[in-house]
Amino acid sequence: MLSNPITTLSWKGKLQNEYPLPFLDYRLRYNSFMNTISANLQAMREQYDQPPLRRSDLKVCPFEQFSKWLEDAVDAKIYDPNACSLSTVDSYGRPFARAVLLKGLEQSNFVFYTNYNSRKAAHLHDNPNACLHFPWFALQRQVMVSGEVVKLEEKMAEEYFNSRPSLSKLGAWASHQSKDLDSRETLEKAFLEAQEKWGENPPKPPHWGGYCLSADMIEFWQGGPNRLHDRFVYHRVDKVGDWLIKRLNP
Ligand SMILES: Cc1cc2nc3c(=O)[nH]c(=O)nc-3n(C[C@H](O)[C@H](O)[C@H](O)COP(=O)(O)O)c2cc1C
Repeated sequence: MLSNPITTLSWKGKLQNEYPLPFLDYRLRYNSFMNTISANLQAMREQYDQPPLRRSDLKVCPFEQFSKWLEDAVDAKIYDPNACSLSTVDSYGRPFARAVLLKGLEQSNFVFYTNYNSRKAAHLHDNPNACLHFPWFALQRQVMVSGEVVKLEEKMAEEYFNSRPSLSKLGAWASHQSKDLDSRETLEKAFLEAQEKWGENPPKPPHWGGYCLSADMIEFWQGGPNRLHDRFVYHRVDKVGDWLIKRLNP
């Protein structure tokens, strides 16, 4: 019963028999706090009032459409406009999501960089299907991109790595991304060791590189009044770059 965080007041009598009072006091305060939060969450509601997205507004090519919306996000000064959620699945089919930065849009490929020993890299090794979600909520927009990833050519990863600030490069050497870490000090020590070893101009670590997601589906969503949002999905029809555009129910 205690694993359920929504323990109600009516259970107090039974709980009092089994648990000491300070614990119960905490549970009751926690429940009251949670009830307030829930009530607040239910009351949170925004009206979507930005210009609509019409079929006639859409570019034939989804990458042009994406680039236009990305530019809008930059112009609107959205914080980290190129940040997106990357979703992958583990070998049991359990989904995981985390933020990455989009660092390239090459033809039909969305490029991001990471550690090839990370959890996401293990997922992508076993199952290259992935999804990117761009949350441009300040513009009442989102974009979802789905497709398969492949590793980016080493040469391109190296070029990008060399353009990064020196301290970020050292960070890539210091972090064993996704592995257990016993303390902050261990990480900072690894950073200093990398600095001592590589100095101002560290090379790209062999375990660091990029992925290209080759999109076969891209969906654009624009919030509308009364929850009548505009949704358009582009499906790749063939390899030469023809796309089928459909409107979806919101
Ligand atoms: C805004 C933002 C941008 C991020 N960009 C990246 C990125 O480009 N590459 C990366 O490996 N991790 C990035 N991270 C950290 C990841 O979200 C994640 O914590 C890390 O990659 C480990 O994920 P994993 O254990 O699932 O592999 C970013 C986090 C935030 C909040």
